[in-house]
Amino acid sequence: MEYMDALEARWACKLYDSSKPLSEEDEYAIIEAARLAPSSFGLEPWRFLAVRDDSLRFKLFGACFLQDSVRTAPLVVISLVRAARFYAPDSDFIKARSARFPGGYPVFLEDYRGYYAYLNQNGLLEHWARAQSYIACANMMNAATDRGLASCAIEGYDEAQVLAIVAEAVAGFDPADWRVGLLCSVGVPGEPRRERVRASLEELLTRL
Ligand SMILES: Cc1cc2nc3c(=O)[nH]c(=O)nc-3n(C[C@H](O)[C@H](O)[C@H](O)COP(=O)(O)O)c2cc1C
Repeated sequence: MEYMDALEARWACKLYDSSKPLSEEDEYAIIEAARLAPSSFGLEPWRFLAVRDDSLRFKLFGACFLQDSVRTAPLVVISLVRAARFYAPDSDFIKARSARFPGGYPVFLEDYRGYYAYLNQNGLLEHWARAQSYIACANMMNAATDRGLASCAIEGYDEAQVLAIVAEAVAGFDPADWRVGLLCSVGVPGEPRRERVRASLEELLTRL
């Protein structure tokens, strides 16, 4: 699908046809789209959990205020981002991530230190990390559309409950290390396409 056509075609699906499973290829394409998303300083603060298991998804349904899209979707992707302490300039995470770039950690630090101080002083580190996961989620939704699937971003969740569910399911997972970004449900729609409502460009755009 052409890129602009995919943007036009995407809509927020709130009910899926649970009898239509998702292929491995579909799941791969969706998660790969998330992996390719840009991130601030290239730090990739996230990890993604592809939830297909019915009982796990049912628990998530409870943690998402009983949203049917979570109950009926064959795939729900949870985007998690690291907690604030991981972004400290002298953390192992920052050292490891920055070593991948030309000049490595010392060069990275020159650039990063000032912005980190700004985020930290203003209590914005986790907001900054979460905001990035929204871009990954947009990529996933557009990749789903490209493959003829429907999707929905899910911000309506109880974070502590989602982290507790993940901790039960993933060995060695420490909820203190992670925050929840966006969840993304994906599947074949079980409802007619919802008409989109949008303000006009005239209303939204200021040309300077
Ligand atoms: C950040 C974000 C969070 C959202 N959270 C939810 C949600 O928790 N539940 C839901 O049903 N839809 C959710 N949506 C979907 C929006 O309701 C939907 O995108 C919006 O109404 C516009 O419709 P459209 O996507 O079909 O154009 C969310 C969308 C975004 C971007």
